[in-house]
Amino acid sequence: MNGSLNNKNIILGVSGSIAAYKAPNIVRRLQDLGAEVRVILTKGGSQFITELSLQVTSKNKVYNNLWDKEAELSIRHIELAKWADTILIAPASANTIANLTLGKASDLLGSVILASNCPIFIASAMNQQMYTSNSVQANLKKLAKRQILIIAPESGWQACGDIGEGRLAKSSYIAQRVGNIFQNTKLSGKKVLITLGGTIEVIDPVRYLSNHSSGKMGSALADACIESGAQVTLVHGNINVTLNQKAQIISAMSAKEMYQSVMDNIAGQDIFIACAAVSDYSMKNIEKNKIKKTEQNDMATIRL
Ligand SMILES: Cc1cc2nc3c(=O)[nH]c(=O)nc-3n(C[C@H](O)[C@H](O)[C@H](O)COP(=O)(O)O)c2cc1C
Repeated sequence: MNGSLNNKNIILGVSGSIAAYKAPNIVRRLQDLGAEVRVILTKGGSQFITELSLQVTSKNKVYNNLWDKEAELSIRHIELAKWADTILIAPASANTIANLTLGKASDLLGSVILASNCPIFIASAMNQQMYTSNSVQANLKKLAKRQILIIAPESGWQACGDIGEGRLAKSSYIAQRVGNIFQNTKLSGKKVLITLGGTIEVIDPVRYLSNHSSGKMGSALADACIESGAQVTLVHGNINVTLNQKAQIISAMSAKEMYQSVMDNIAGQDIFIACAAVSDYSMKNIEKNKIKKTEQNDMATIRL
Protein backbone atom coordinates (compact mmCIF):
# COMPACT_ATOMS: atom_id res chain seq x y z
CA MET A 1 0.00 0.00 0.00
CA ASN A 2 1.76 3.21 -1.12
CA GLY A 3 -0.90 5.58 0.25
CA SER A 4 -1.12 7.81 -2.84
CA LEU A 5 -4.89 7.93 -2.26
CA ASN A 6 -4.78 8.40 1.53
CA ASN A 7 -7.75 10.53 2.67
CA LYS A 8 -9.05 10.72 -0.89
CA ASN A 9 -12.68 10.17 -1.75
CA ILE A 10 -13.24 8.34 -5.01
CA ILE A 11 -16.53 7.80 -6.80
CA LEU A 12 -16.35 4.69 -8.97
CA GLY A 13 -18.97 4.71 -11.74
CA VAL A 14 -19.70 1.18 -12.96
CA SER A 15 -21.55 1.01 -16.27
CA GLY A 16 -22.98 -1.69 -18.51
CA SER A 17 -19.98 -3.61 -19.79
CA ILE A 18 -19.30 -7.30 -19.34
CA ALA A 19 -16.10 -6.13 -17.56
CA ALA A 20 -18.24 -4.79 -14.68
CA TYR A 21 -17.48 -8.07 -12.86
CA LYS A 22 -13.98 -6.63 -12.35
CA ALA A 23 -15.33 -3.58 -10.47
CA PRO A 24 -14.98 -5.09 -6.94
CA ASN A 25 -11.31 -5.69 -7.72
CA ILE A 26 -10.91 -2.05 -8.81
CA VAL A 27 -12.54 -0.99 -5.52
CA ARG A 28 -9.98 -3.12 -3.64
CA ARG A 29 -6.99 -1.72 -5.54
CA LEU A 30 -8.19 1.86 -4.86
CA GLN A 31 -8.57 0.98 -1.18
CA ASP A 32 -5.05 -0.52 -1.19
CA LEU A 33 -3.82 2.97 -2.07
CA GLY A 34 -5.77 4.42 0.85
CA ALA A 35 -8.98 5.63 -0.88
CA GLU A 36 -12.51 5.77 0.49
CA VAL A 37 -14.70 4.49 -2.36
CA ARG A 38 -18.39 5.02 -3.09
CA VAL A 39 -19.89 3.28 -6.11
CA ILE A 40 -22.50 4.59 -8.55
CA LEU A 41 -23.97 1.69 -10.50
CA THR A 42 -25.78 2.49 -13.76
CA LYS A 43 -28.88 0.59 -14.86
CA GLY A 44 -26.71 -1.18 -17.48
CA GLY A 45 -24.01 -1.94 -14.90
CA SER A 46 -26.55 -3.63 -12.61
CA GLN A 47 -27.11 -6.26 -15.34
CA PHE A 48 -23.53 -7.46 -14.88
CA ILE A 49 -22.68 -7.05 -11.18
CA THR A 50 -24.79 -6.99 -8.04
CA GLU A 51 -25.18 -4.01 -5.78
CA LEU A 52 -24.39 -6.31 -2.85
CA SER A 53 -20.90 -7.26 -4.18
CA LEU A 54 -20.03 -3.59 -4.58
CA GLN A 55 -21.55 -2.65 -1.23
CA VAL A 56 -19.55 -5.33 0.57
CA THR A 57 -16.24 -4.46 -1.12
CA SER A 58 -16.63 -0.69 -0.90
CA LYS A 59 -18.08 -0.92 2.65
CA ASN A 60 -20.51 1.79 1.56
CA LYS A 61 -24.03 2.04 0.24
CA VAL A 62 -24.15 1.72 -3.55
CA TYR A 63 -25.90 4.59 -5.33
CA ASN A 64 -28.03 3.94 -8.39
CA ASN A 65 -30.99 6.25 -8.23
CA LEU A 66 -31.16 9.89 -9.26
CA TRP A 67 -34.56 10.17 -7.60
CA ASP A 68 -33.27 9.16 -4.16
CA LYS A 69 -35.85 9.91 -1.45
CA GLU A 70 -33.42 8.64 1.23
CA ALA A 71 -31.19 11.62 0.53
CA GLU A 72 -33.65 13.54 2.76
CA LEU A 73 -32.73 17.21 2.84
CA SER A 74 -29.68 17.06 0.61
CA ILE A 75 -29.75 16.42 -3.13
CA ARG A 76 -27.92 13.16 -3.74
CA HIS A 77 -26.08 14.01 -6.96
CA ILE A 78 -24.84 17.34 -5.58
CA GLU A 79 -23.82 15.73 -2.29
CA LEU A 80 -21.84 13.01 -4.10
CA ALA A 81 -20.25 15.51 -6.50
CA LYS A 82 -19.05 17.64 -3.57
CA TRP A 83 -17.79 14.59 -1.67
CA ALA A 84 -15.56 13.29 -4.49
CA ASP A 85 -11.87 14.19 -4.91
CA THR A 86 -11.95 12.33 -8.19
CA ILE A 87 -14.42 10.30 -10.26
CA LEU A 88 -13.42 7.14 -12.10
CA ILE A 89 -15.73 5.37 -14.52
CA ALA A 90 -14.52 1.80 -14.92
CA PRO A 91 -15.71 0.06 -16.94
CA ALA A 92 -17.05 2.87 -19.11
CA SER A 93 -19.52 1.53 -21.69
CA ALA A 94 -19.87 3.02 -25.18
CA ASN A 95 -23.29 4.32 -24.09
CA THR A 96 -21.95 6.01 -20.96
CA ILE A 97 -19.09 7.53 -23.00
CA ALA A 98 -21.65 8.91 -25.48
CA ASN A 99 -23.80 10.31 -22.64
CA LEU A 100 -20.73 11.93 -21.11
CA THR A 101 -19.76 13.48 -24.45
CA LEU A 102 -23.25 14.97 -24.79
CA GLY A 103 -23.24 16.15 -21.18
CA LYS A 104 -26.40 14.19 -20.42
CA ALA A 105 -27.80 14.26 -16.89
CA SER A 106 -30.49 11.63 -17.35
CA ASP A 107 -29.13 9.30 -14.66
CA LEU A 108 -27.28 9.65 -11.35
CA LEU A 109 -23.79 9.14 -12.83
CA GLY A 110 -24.31 11.77 -15.57
CA SER A 111 -25.74 14.25 -13.06
CA VAL A 112 -22.84 13.75 -10.62
CA ILE A 113 -20.30 14.24 -13.43
CA LEU A 114 -21.90 17.53 -14.47
CA ALA A 115 -22.15 18.74 -10.88
CA SER A 116 -18.48 18.01 -10.05
CA ASN A 117 -15.33 19.98 -10.68
CA CYS A 118 -12.83 17.26 -9.78
CA PRO A 119 -10.63 15.24 -12.17
CA ILE A 120 -12.55 12.56 -14.08
CA PHE A 121 -11.04 9.33 -15.40
CA ILE A 122 -12.68 6.93 -17.81
CA ALA A 123 -11.49 3.39 -18.52
CA SER A 124 -13.46 2.02 -21.44
CA ALA A 125 -14.26 -1.65 -22.03
CA MET A 126 -16.12 -3.02 -25.01
CA ASN A 127 -15.95 -5.21 -28.09
CA GLN A 128 -13.01 -4.29 -30.38
CA GLN A 129 -15.29 -3.28 -33.25
CA MET A 130 -17.30 -1.00 -30.95
CA TYR A 131 -14.10 0.49 -29.52
CA THR A 132 -12.56 1.28 -32.90
CA SER A 133 -15.86 2.62 -34.33
CA ASN A 134 -15.73 6.21 -35.53
CA SER A 135 -18.37 7.25 -32.98
CA VAL A 136 -16.54 5.92 -29.91
CA GLN A 137 -13.17 7.24 -31.12
CA ALA A 138 -14.65 10.67 -31.88
CA ASN A 139 -16.31 10.77 -28.46
CA LEU A 140 -13.06 9.81 -26.70
CA LYS A 141 -11.20 12.55 -28.57
CA LYS A 142 -13.82 15.13 -27.53
CA LEU A 143 -13.60 14.00 -23.91
CA ALA A 144 -9.78 14.15 -23.96
CA LYS A 145 -10.04 17.74 -25.25
CA ARG A 146 -12.25 18.51 -22.24
CA GLN A 147 -9.44 17.29 -19.94
CA ILE A 148 -11.18 14.00 -19.09
CA LEU A 149 -8.38 11.55 -18.36
CA ILE A 150 -8.58 8.51 -20.59
CA ILE A 151 -7.27 5.13 -19.45
CA ALA A 152 -6.90 3.17 -22.68
CA PRO A 153 -8.11 -0.43 -22.88
CA GLU A 154 -5.78 -3.35 -23.56
CA SER A 155 -5.61 -5.66 -26.57
CA GLY A 156 -6.31 -9.37 -26.39
CA TRP A 157 -9.01 -12.01 -26.24
CA GLN A 158 -12.46 -10.62 -25.53
CA ALA A 159 -15.51 -12.14 -23.83
CA CYS A 160 -17.30 -12.25 -27.21
CA GLY A 161 -14.47 -14.33 -28.73
CA ASP A 162 -12.94 -11.50 -30.77
CA ILE A 163 -9.31 -10.53 -30.46
CA GLY A 164 -8.50 -6.83 -30.38
CA GLU A 165 -8.50 -3.60 -28.45
CA GLY A 166 -11.20 -3.05 -25.86
CA ARG A 167 -10.36 -5.16 -22.79
CA LEU A 168 -10.55 -3.16 -19.58
CA ALA A 169 -7.07 -2.10 -18.38
CA LYS A 170 -5.75 -3.99 -15.33
CA SER A 171 -7.34 -2.97 -12.02
CA SER A 172 -3.97 -2.22 -10.39
CA TYR A 173 -2.95 -0.02 -13.36
CA ILE A 174 -6.27 1.88 -13.21
CA ALA A 175 -5.84 2.50 -9.47
CA GLN A 176 -2.23 3.59 -9.96
CA ARG A 177 -3.26 6.08 -12.70
CA VAL A 178 -5.81 7.61 -10.32
CA GLY A 179 -3.22 7.72 -7.52
CA ASN A 180 -0.71 9.45 -9.79
CA ILE A 181 -2.68 12.70 -9.99
CA PHE A 182 -2.36 13.20 -6.26
CA GLN A 183 1.39 12.65 -6.37
CA ASN A 184 2.04 15.07 -9.13
CA THR A 185 5.15 16.67 -7.74
CA LYS A 186 7.84 14.23 -8.87
CA LEU A 187 8.30 15.91 -12.25
CA SER A 188 6.76 19.29 -11.55
CA GLY A 189 8.65 22.07 -13.30
CA LYS A 190 10.31 19.54 -15.62
CA LYS A 191 10.02 19.54 -19.38
CA VAL A 192 9.86 16.21 -21.20
CA LEU A 193 10.08 15.59 -24.94
CA ILE A 194 8.84 12.22 -26.20
CA THR A 195 8.85 10.78 -29.71
CA LEU A 196 6.30 8.09 -30.51
CA GLY A 197 4.67 6.11 -33.28
CA GLY A 198 6.07 4.87 -36.57
CA THR A 199 7.60 7.08 -39.21
CA ILE A 200 6.31 7.10 -42.77
CA GLU A 201 8.76 7.10 -45.68
CA VAL A 202 7.09 8.14 -48.90
CA ILE A 203 7.82 5.98 -51.98
CA ASP A 204 5.56 7.76 -54.47
CA PRO A 205 2.36 9.86 -54.17
CA VAL A 206 0.31 6.80 -53.13
CA ARG A 207 2.73 4.43 -51.37
CA TYR A 208 4.90 4.51 -48.27
CA LEU A 209 7.10 2.38 -46.02
CA SER A 210 6.16 2.20 -42.35
CA ASN A 211 5.85 -0.23 -39.43
CA HIS A 212 3.30 -1.50 -36.91
CA SER A 213 4.15 0.93 -34.10
CA SER A 214 0.93 2.20 -32.45
CA GLY A 215 2.44 4.96 -30.28
CA LYS A 216 0.98 3.36 -27.14
CA MET A 217 4.22 3.22 -25.19
CA GLY A 218 4.96 6.92 -25.83
CA SER A 219 1.37 7.83 -25.01
CA ALA A 220 1.49 5.91 -21.70
CA LEU A 221 4.81 7.59 -20.85
CA ALA A 222 3.26 10.99 -21.65
CA ASP A 223 0.28 10.26 -19.37
CA ALA A 224 2.59 9.24 -16.51
CA CYS A 225 4.81 12.32 -16.97
CA ILE A 226 1.84 14.72 -17.19
CA GLU A 227 0.22 13.16 -14.14
CA SER A 228 3.55 13.64 -12.31
CA GLY A 229 3.50 17.34 -13.11
CA ALA A 230 5.75 17.54 -16.19
CA GLN A 231 5.21 19.76 -19.20
CA VAL A 232 5.25 17.31 -22.11
CA THR A 233 5.92 17.78 -25.81
CA LEU A 234 5.04 14.87 -28.10
CA VAL A 235 6.54 14.46 -31.56
CA HIS A 236 4.54 11.72 -33.21
CA GLY A 237 4.56 9.82 -36.47
CA ASN A 238 1.81 7.42 -37.51
CA ILE A 239 -0.15 6.46 -34.36
CA ASN A 240 -3.24 4.58 -33.33
CA VAL A 241 -3.88 6.05 -29.90
CA THR A 242 -5.65 9.07 -28.37
CA LEU A 243 -3.03 11.51 -27.10
CA ASN A 244 -3.27 13.41 -23.83
CA GLN A 245 -4.41 16.90 -24.82
CA LYS A 246 -2.40 18.46 -22.01
CA ALA A 247 0.73 17.77 -24.08
CA GLN A 248 2.03 19.99 -26.83
CA ILE A 249 1.48 17.79 -29.88
CA ILE A 250 3.63 17.96 -33.01
CA SER A 251 3.12 15.74 -36.03
CA ALA A 252 6.20 14.65 -37.99
CA MET A 253 5.85 11.88 -40.53
CA SER A 254 9.25 10.93 -42.00
CA ALA A 255 12.40 10.12 -40.01
CA LYS A 256 13.91 13.34 -41.36
CA GLU A 257 10.91 15.44 -40.29
CA MET A 258 10.92 13.78 -36.88
CA TYR A 259 14.64 14.53 -36.43
CA GLN A 260 14.04 18.17 -37.41
CA SER A 261 11.05 18.54 -35.06
CA VAL A 262 13.08 17.08 -32.19
CA MET A 263 16.03 19.39 -32.88
CA ASP A 264 13.67 22.39 -33.09
CA ASN A 265 12.19 21.59 -29.69
CA ILE A 266 15.03 20.00 -27.70
CA ALA A 267 16.40 23.22 -26.19
CA GLY A 268 15.30 23.62 -22.58
CA GLN A 269 14.05 20.04 -22.17
CA ASP A 270 15.06 18.15 -19.00
CA ILE A 271 14.25 14.69 -20.30
CA PHE A 272 14.16 13.24 -23.81
CA ILE A 273 12.51 9.87 -24.37
CA ALA A 274 12.93 8.44 -27.88
CA CYS A 275 10.40 5.68 -28.26
CA ALA A 276 9.25 6.27 -31.84
CA ALA A 277 9.83 3.45 -34.29
CA VAL A 278 12.00 5.37 -36.72
CA SER A 279 12.59 3.92 -40.14
CA ASP A 280 16.14 2.73 -40.84
CA TYR A 281 15.56 3.34 -44.53
CA SER A 282 14.16 6.07 -46.70
CA MET A 283 13.84 6.24 -50.47
CA LYS A 284 16.97 7.23 -52.36
CA ASN A 285 14.66 9.25 -54.63
CA ILE A 286 10.96 9.84 -53.96
CA GLU A 287 9.07 9.22 -57.21
CA LYS A 288 7.00 12.24 -58.28
CA ASN A 289 4.40 10.06 -59.99
CA LYS A 290 2.86 6.75 -59.02
CA ILE A 291 5.22 3.92 -59.99
CA LYS A 292 3.38 2.11 -62.78
CA LYS A 293 2.67 -1.58 -62.64
CA THR A 294 4.69 -3.18 -65.44
CA GLU A 295 4.67 -6.58 -67.11
CA GLN A 296 7.86 -7.34 -65.17
CA ASN A 297 6.25 -6.25 -61.90
CA ASP A 298 8.02 -8.94 -59.87
CA MET A 299 11.26 -7.32 -60.96
CA ALA A 300 10.32 -3.87 -59.53
CA THR A 301 13.11 -2.48 -57.38
CA ILE A 302 13.14 0.47 -55.02
CA ARG A 303 16.43 1.95 -53.85
CA LEU A 304 16.62 2.84 -50.17
C1 LIG B 1 -24.20 -9.40 -22.87
C2 LIG B 1 -23.93 -7.93 -23.10
C3 LIG B 1 -22.64 -7.48 -22.97
C4 LIG B 1 -22.35 -6.12 -23.18
N1 LIG B 1 -21.05 -5.70 -23.06
C5 LIG B 1 -20.78 -4.39 -23.29
C6 LIG B 1 -19.44 -3.94 -23.15
O1 LIG B 1 -18.52 -4.67 -22.79
N2 LIG B 1 -19.20 -2.63 -23.40
C7 LIG B 1 -20.18 -1.75 -23.79
O2 LIG B 1 -19.87 -0.59 -24.02
N3 LIG B 1 -21.47 -2.16 -23.90
C8 LIG B 1 -21.79 -3.45 -23.66
N4 LIG B 1 -23.09 -3.87 -23.77
C9 LIG B 1 -24.13 -2.89 -24.11
C10 LIG B 1 -24.51 -2.03 -22.89
O3 LIG B 1 -24.75 -2.83 -21.77
C11 LIG B 1 -25.69 -1.13 -23.22
O4 LIG B 1 -25.29 -0.19 -24.21
C12 LIG B 1 -26.23 -0.40 -22.01
O5 LIG B 1 -27.29 0.44 -22.44
C13 LIG B 1 -25.18 0.44 -21.29
O6 LIG B 1 -25.81 1.16 -20.26
P1 LIG B 1 -25.01 2.17 -19.31
O7 LIG B 1 -23.98 2.86 -20.14
O8 LIG B 1 -26.06 3.10 -18.81
O9 LIG B 1 -24.45 1.35 -18.23
C14 LIG B 1 -23.39 -5.22 -23.54
C15 LIG B 1 -24.69 -5.70 -23.64
C16 LIG B 1 -24.97 -7.05 -23.43
C17 LIG B 1 -26.39 -7.52 -23.57
